[in-house]
This record gives sequence, C-alpha cells and structure tokens, in this order.
Amino acid sequence: MVREWEQRWDDWSEDQFSAFAELKVDTQVVSRTDTLAEIIGPEDHILDIGCGAGRYHRSLVEQRKLAPASNYIGLDRTRGMLDEASARYPEAFFCIGDAFNLPFSDSSFEICLSMDVLQHIPDYRRLVEEMYRVCGKYMIFVTWWTHGEEENRADYPKISKLINFERFVGFIKTFPNKKILYKNEIILVEKLLIPDA
Ligand SMILES: C[S@@+](CC[C@H](N)C(=O)[O-])C[C@H]1O[C@@H](n2cnc3c(N)ncnc32)[C@H](O)[C@@H]1O
Repeated sequence: MVREWEQRWDDWSEDQFSAFAELKVDTQVVSRTDTLAEIIGPEDHILDIGCGAGRYHRSLVEQRKLAPASNYIGLDRTRGMLDEASARYPEAFFCIGDAFNLPFSDSSFEICLSMDVLQHIPDYRRLVEEMYRVCGKYMIFVTWWTHGEEENRADYPKISKLINFERFVGFIKTFPNKKILYKNEIILVEKLLIPDA
C-alpha cells in the first residue's frame, strides 16, 4: 500500500514538477513566510523536508534573507524536483532523501519545515518522528487540514488526502517536551529544553 502510493506520487510529480517549478510567489507563500519570519533567527539552520523545486528556499533565504544559503538544506525524494531546485539556486544545498529516514543526526536543525508534504504521504507518523529527532527548536507543518474525515481530494485523485487536524494534534501531543502553537493554517511545534508541564 505504501509503495503503491509512493509510486503514484513519483509518476505524478515527475510529470508535474515543472508546474511547481514556476514558483509563483502567491499570497499563501508570502503569508506563511511572514509567520516563519517571526521565529527564524539569523543563525538558525533550516531543513526543508519535501522541498520540491525550492519555493521556500526562494522565499525564506533568497528573498527575505532570514538565513544564509549555507544554513539551508532542502531534501526531497523526487529527482526532477531537485534538479529544478539546484538549477535555480546553485548556492543552496539540495539532496535526495526520504523523509522517513533522514540522514542527519539528532537536533541538527533549529528549524524543520514540512510544507505541503503530509497530504502526499501514506502515513505521517514516521515523518513526524524523524522530524522531531533531527529538530533542535521548531517544527513547522502546513498541509491540507480537515476537521472531518481524512479523504482523497477529487482534484488530485489517489496521490493526496486531507489530514484530520485534531488527530494530527493528538499525535503531536504524544511527544515529550514540546509546546504546540497555531497560526492560521500553520502548526508550529516548539521543542523545549525543559520538560513541559
Ligand atoms: C506538494 S510538493 C511541496 C513542495 C514544497 N514543499 C513546496 O511547498 O513547494 C510535495 C513534495 O514532497 C515530496 N515528498 C513526498 N514524499 C516524500 C518523502 N517520503 N520524502 C521526501 N520528500 C517527499 C515530493 O517529492 C514533493 O516534492
């Protein structure tokens, strides 16, 4: 089931990566970037999991200069997306990899992003566990939330689904030493140095 889903995603996204690569600065990306600007410090290291063609490298690093290019790593499992990202942003480091097995040691990045990725994977739990492990400060999640049942979206059949917000938050609550913050459609999870109450 997992492999079938991933294969569908690969087939679809290899076909579609050039559409993502248009990288329109739409109002959604701008408003998410505004929110991230409130928490990203100039020394922070950013891991962009499922970075696609580098939209958030462009908005966070290139345009807003919230971190130097050397502090940003984009990781994705789709070669076509990464080729496009590397061609556009040669100064940034993009690597092929799987969000379920991140090739980084614990607490390596102050900021870990998951921007529009959860809806395209069969089970987000392993991704969140991996993110929590490599994260030193903030985890950021944006996806297609629903307060109802998780279901496929008609316009992207079979390669995406709506994610139940309350169930996701319930899962995050099982992790130790964290504070959950919400801003519009963004869930920020702050990893605390001292245990939470
Ligand atoms: C909708 S795109 C979002 C790309 C980018 N975050 C953005 O907002 O422009 C989802 C991305 O997640 C990637 N992805 C899906 N499953 C993944 C996995 N298991 N590990 C790493 N990347 C994955 C896809 O290849 C795709 O580039």
